[in-house]
Amino acid sequence: MQVRPLSAEFVAEVDGIDLRHPVSEAAHAAIVEAIDRYAVLVFRDQPLDDEQQIAFSSLFGPLETTRRADRPGVTLRLNPHVSDVSNLDERNRILPTDDFRRISGLANQLWHTDSSYKRVPARYSLLSAHAVPPAGGETEFADMRAAYDALPETRKAEIEDRVAEHSIFTSRAKIGFTDFTPEERAKLPPVPHVMVRTHPGSSRRSIYVASHADTVRGMPLPEARLLLMELIEHATQPRFVHRHIWRVGDLVMWDNRCTMHRGRPYDLTQIRDMHRTTVSDEVPTVAETAA
Ligand code: OGA
Ligand code: MN
Repeated sequence: MQVRPLSAEFVAEVDGIDLRHPVSEAAHAAIVEAIDRYAVLVFRDQPLDDEQQIAFSSLFGPLETTRRADRPGVTLRLNPHVSDVSNLDERNRILPTDDFRRISGLANQLWHTDSSYKRVPARYSLLSAHAVPPAGGETEFADMRAAYDALPETRKAEIEDRVAEHSIFTSRAKIGFTDFTPEERAKLPPVPHVMVRTHPGSSRRSIYVASHADTVRGMPLPEARLLLMELIEHATQPRFVHRHIWRVGDLVMWDNRCTMHRGRPYDLTQIRDMHRTTVSDEVPTVAETAA
């Protein structure tokens, strides 16, 4: 297995390994070491089926179940441990404009880190390309460690002990999607997260914010909102961003603890079919119970 960095600290391509077959302990350890260092790993030419993707992903921890399984009346197209990141319905037809699955997919175009609306958010996500549109539909990744390092000291001090509250409904509302039942809202109340994380594998510090972030505890709301916007704007400057251009058979694995990502627009009449497995983190980022 070879790890070929695309830059000194961020994003590496990994080859010389076939992820369809069981991965040795040594290779598993080398992958963890590589993602600790580079945060995003690109595996080319890995045409995995869902079972193979689940088997590989499960090496890294427990998998999340797709949120879509909770929506009443929804027939899943894929295994409940696989998030359907496509514009297709359960019969592989392009989704109509008003379908909530299409709107949920569009929210992926906002800068975010996966499952930060959960008390225990995602550790890794693994996204596999089954069909890609002829143009657009790239995915961008922002290095939140480099972004943290580049903050002025005053800003670092300001966010050091701060806790933000994240909610899925905050990011959805940003694109005008507010059609949720009271039961759905009650199931996903806002959750607290530290705004600065220390990565256990690299000891590097990173900014932890996302489009799900709604408020900052103990700060007047307008100031909190401006701070969140300012941090996202800072962290997503081109110097911190890598754009992945997809080929069918790519598997990209990223560390949600120290990156943000977003999908780029594409012609929604063209098929884009991506399957995501999500490895959960172990503990909340904030030790206390919600206030
Ligand atoms: C995701 C995601 C963006 C994309 O799968 O978590 O945000 O480009 N995807 O599909
Ligand atoms: Mn995502």
